[in-house]
Amino acid sequence: MILNVNIDHVATLRNARGGNEPDVLEAALIAEKAGAKGIVCHLREDRRHIKDVDVYQLKKNISTRLDLEMAMYDDIIAIALDVVPDLVTIVPEGRQELTTEGGLDVFAIQHDLIALCDKMHSKGIEVSLFIEPDKTQVEIAKSVGADMVELHTGTYANLTEANRKNGELIRINEATLYADSIGLKVAAGHGLNLDNTADIAKIKQIHELSIGHSIISNSIKYGLEETVKKFIRIIESN
Ligand code: PXP
Repeated sequence: MILNVNIDHVATLRNARGGNEPDVLEAALIAEKAGAKGIVCHLREDRRHIKDVDVYQLKKNISTRLDLEMAMYDDIIAIALDVVPDLVTIVPEGRQELTTEGGLDVFAIQHDLIALCDKMHSKGIEVSLFIEPDKTQVEIAKSVGADMVELHTGTYANLTEANRKNGELIRINEATLYADSIGLKVAAGHGLNLDNTADIAKIKQIHELSIGHSIISNSIKYGLEETVKKFIRIIESN
């Protein structure tokens, strides 16, 4: 299992004052130096954190894989086809939301997803779909031509009551095993932190974790390089 670091909130901090501090690319390079195997950024419709120029700079300068998170807006699809990241992760996006609030309903948008997968594949870009840990969603993800699913761990992360939390973990485990059995690569992410990542890391068929907010937040305490290493130690010791 590998760690991909989402650097959106380095950009959030930068944008609070304009200018280029903290530097998004520098943060990505530090994360790579610490052992991250991929860099993730979300180009949102309102460009509230990552800007177009960041995506181009990351693609040009990082040495690991670039995962561009995006919703299916025409202008952002055009940017993805121009930048050619290694992977696009398709997410639902609402303008008022603080962060991505739920997985895609792949059934409702399956025709658009088929067209999108064709376009991305024609450029050699892999496609991952961010979905709830649900067998039907996994099945449709496979049928539209996705290469990977990223299972939403936000519900698991937010639950506090032990029984319900365990129930959600079982759902994530079952969805992972099913996706793996039908030939989809599996990622997981959202709301993962230093306390709750271990249980997810025990699910061996998950190929990668995508973690952002907690890594950037803990960097204030431990520094970015050490924080990334802490998460990698959790992944590797489980
Ligand atoms: N995966 C997806 C698809 C996301 O949209 C996000 C948030 O940008 C993350 C992972 C990372 O979530 P967090 O910032 O809570 O670690």
